[in-house]
Amino acid sequence: MASAKPSKTAPDPDLASVLLAWYDRHARALPWRVSPSERAQGVVNDPYRVWLSEIMLQQTTVQAVKPYFASFAMRWPTITDLAAAETEDVMKAWAGLGYYSRARNLKRCADVVAAEHGGRFPDTEEGLRALPGIGPYTAAAIAAIAFDRRAAVVDGNIERVFTRLHEIATPLPSAKSEIREAVDAVTPDGRPGDFAQALMDLGATICTPKRPACVLCPLNGSCLARRSGRQEQFPVKLSKKEKPVRLGAAFVAERPDGAVLLVKRPDTGLLGGMTGVPTTNWTVRADGATGAKSAPFAADWLSKGVITHVFTHFELRLEVFHAVVTGAPDHEGWWSDSDSLPGEALPTVMKKALGAAFPALFRKGKT
Ligand code: ADE
Repeated sequence: MASAKPSKTAPDPDLASVLLAWYDRHARALPWRVSPSERAQGVVNDPYRVWLSEIMLQQTTVQAVKPYFASFAMRWPTITDLAAAETEDVMKAWAGLGYYSRARNLKRCADVVAAEHGGRFPDTEEGLRALPGIGPYTAAAIAAIAFDRRAAVVDGNIERVFTRLHEIATPLPSAKSEIREAVDAVTPDGRPGDFAQALMDLGATICTPKRPACVLCPLNGSCLARRSGRQEQFPVKLSKKEKPVRLGAAFVAERPDGAVLLVKRPDTGLLGGMTGVPTTNWTVRADGATGAKSAPFAADWLSKGVITHVFTHFELRLEVFHAVVTGAPDHEGWWSDSDSLPGEALPTVMKKALGAAFPALFRKGKT
């Protein structure tokens, strides 16, 4: 496949202005974003909302983030409010959004900004990168969007746009530095934040992974992949290995009054610090301790079926057991009744396990 390396010496001088003009007309209305027309009237982005949205959007879709963003912004409208919150409450409010170390770092970052920066975010990429949970991408995005700093912002959408524009045939992730150079070459000094968001919107709405809407694309005149008709062949990705499967069992113990036994998972590791029902370890061994015999205490455990949950690096298959338990079993944790259950810091996989035991309470999409 031909690779036309982006030229650093001859960037398309019109690309930024064409794209910004498109953004002025077609920008998505997003709750953390100052629209182009508001901006023209002098409204500026709130760095707190930009930061909050960028942390939530790491590995997560705009659609999934919207309700979480709304409830965080309502409950903790400023960084000082978030710094004053209990970590436990932040984890509960984050439950269901996944990648829970983000929530812990979010709170740590709020604490540092409140305690060491007088409640104001640093306004450079370098200053932002020194904060918990802020890596190179997020620092560039916040510097550009919140502070109008010129920064090359490259997320998955933007990677797709640029590998197509230049027919970059190097597979991802090796192509990252090549893409970053190409983005840097055309990032304007004026409105770099809008430029980054315009590229994100273009990738999300027009330059989509499948069947991109090239006829509507403001950059179609300069897109090499469009010219050769090979849009869907970019970005080139190394073939993905199949995810390994891990097995385990989850134990839903219910008291006669309906309360359920919950435990807090260890602070480190997967789902660190989150709440769940007791489980076995998750093992790759089919002969591992994943049946009723591995229950944390004796009861009439009845299998309610197997639920699956896909994590980044493996697929988990959990057999869910349920028992009504009288007396107090010798086990750590607490009993949560139907009033408090919805407010617990339950990750999605735990909601699925509870759903297997109580189909009416935890219907798909209900919580
Ligand atoms: N994805 C990551 N950051 C985003 C943003 N600021 N706007 C839209 N999509 C995004």
